[in-house]
Amino acid sequence: MKHFFKTILRQSYLKWKKFKKESPLFQSLIYSFDNKSSFEKIDQHERMLADTTRMDIYFRAIQKYVKDGDTVVDLGTGTGILAFFASQRNVKKVYAIDHGNVINYAKKVAEANNLKNIEFIQQHSGQFNPPEKIDVILHEQIGDFLINEDMIRNLLDLKKRLLKSGGIMLPSIFEMYFEPITMAPGRNTPFLWEHNFNGIDYSPTKDFLNSDESPLSKPEIFIYIQPGDAESFLANPKPVTKFDIMQIDNDIFLKELTFEQKIVKNGKLDGFALYFRIIFDEELVIDNSPFEKPTHWLPSIFRVEPVELREGDMLRINLNIPDPTNEELWNFNFEKVRIEENSLLTET
Ligand SMILES: C[S@@+](CC[C@H](N)C(=O)[O-])C[C@H]1O[C@@H](n2cnc3c(N)ncnc32)[C@H](O)[C@@H]1O
Repeated sequence: MKHFFKTILRQSYLKWKKFKKESPLFQSLIYSFDNKSSFEKIDQHERMLADTTRMDIYFRAIQKYVKDGDTVVDLGTGTGILAFFASQRNVKKVYAIDHGNVINYAKKVAEANNLKNIEFIQQHSGQFNPPEKIDVILHEQIGDFLINEDMIRNLLDLKKRLLKSGGIMLPSIFEMYFEPITMAPGRNTPFLWEHNFNGIDYSPTKDFLNSDESPLSKPEIFIYIQPGDAESFLANPKPVTKFDIMQIDNDIFLKELTFEQKIVKNGKLDGFALYFRIIFDEELVIDNSPFEKPTHWLPSIFRVEPVELREGDMLRINLNIPDPTNEELWNFNFEKVRIEENSLLTET
């Protein structure tokens, strides 16, 4: 009997997971609820405001691109900082919208600083319908995995409904990287089954942990990379995707990314570092590579069991993103091919 109920529960859970994975509307609703509650925690906003790279580049971009008399939307105003920077540009009006209660802090700061050309609206962006078209959409809808805060869906919606022809979005251009990486000695987190302490072998846990029978959660596919964790890339970085929200009208191209990386130095592959660049223009760029000055966005490593690679190896990689807002569902695979005498040999 107990086994029967366990089976029913497990089957219902798997059906629920499948439904979540395959229903974009449902994903968006769930995500919006999660996002709202996660940004109710003020420490999130403190960390963002303390990120000097982020603050400096956004400030300079707003100084450069927001003009006198513009009508501006700050999508997801949080504590209001981007709306305040825009307000100082002598704009006609800033609509500062946020679905969370954090907007009340932003209102207080605006009052205290006598910033009068801002209208605060507590609403989800999808419901926001101002009486006029917009010159500039400002936002910082960027997560640790670049697209996991539903940035693309939210921005495409506002672009389509509200942006004037000739209007701009700050920022709109992004690059995502997935680079083969070696971690510094002692700074990698191996899978449970890789451990062997003084002859005590954990390898029997592998099949069990990965099976549906395991009562434990599946091993994390990614781990955040802290400053100092990474030793070197094994290839010359090149983006696996680069997109401009002003030029696209959906995110289907992200569902399955297939690309090749040429290994340029001998070394141990510990995984693939996922990081990104936010490009306002050639001069105003935020780069959260593990080898750049750290920002509040942590790069992550999508782990593999270590593989020794040699200069000249080619990796063919497949990155699948079934739901941008749920990085737990992202998955990847890769195969090593070796170039020998002008032919590609697949190694198993
Ligand atoms: C990463 S924070 C950025 C806050 C602020 N703009 C800044 O730069 O410090 C994103 C904010 O957007 C809000 N948000 C996310 N999605 C939203 C949506 N679709 N509509 C309205 N607010 C949203 C969140 O509540 C959060 O306060």
